[in-house]
Amino acid sequence: MTTVPRNVILVGFMGAGKSTVGRLLARRLGRCFVETDAMITAREGRSIPEIFEARGEPYFRQLEAEALEALSDKRDHVVATGGGFPCESGVMDRLLQLGTVVWLAADFEAAYARANRIGGRPMLAGRSAEDAAALYRVRQDVYRRAHLALDTTRMTVDAVVARIVRHLRDRERRAGPPPSSEALPAATSEVSGNGRPAVDHPTAVGERRDREA
Ligand code: S3P
Repeated sequence: MTTVPRNVILVGFMGAGKSTVGRLLARRLGRCFVETDAMITAREGRSIPEIFEARGEPYFRQLEAEALEALSDKRDHVVATGGGFPCESGVMDRLLQLGTVVWLAADFEAAYARANRIGGRPMLAGRSAEDAAALYRVRQDVYRRAHLALDTTRMTVDAVVARIVRHLRDRERRAGPPPSSEALPAATSEVSGNGRPAVDHPTAVGERRDREA
């Protein structure tokens, strides 16, 4: 019996495609998909920009700490975290224990452009591109501790998902066979979705923002 929670946890900068990839990956693996931002907005009953506006960033980070506690109970989930989620002290250490952490490492320019196009990112509001780039650089030191780093800038969503599935299978093989009912699907079998780029498709994240509004 495996004692390690078999979650897959996606980290990365705003606009890197965590929600888009996470949703498809969860479908591919037949697992539940959760987003830390959605956990927070459901709890608070208002959107992320509204939370920042009313209570400021420190309060939002406190809500993220509570979301981390809730994640500790999850097994076999795919989790998309907010861009700043792993960057608070001790959080990345905890995530590394909770599952396989995957860094979606898009180029700053691609991620920044996408995040701005979609909007609803208070951490970018009123920040110059230079300041946002500085934030990106600082956060990379945290993200790079992930078990797997993928430069998704020029990868399709399907390719990113297939690469993650392959990594999970390799890890599982190294760890020994799981109970057969828990086996992962073959990396080569068909992936639903299409060949769109991982970081250049606003629709999925746009849908999420609609839900929050
Ligand atoms: C944040 C990223 C956002 C959201 C919040 C703060 C950040 O999530 O958690 O606006 O600090 O980078 P996304 O990474 O999904 O945009």
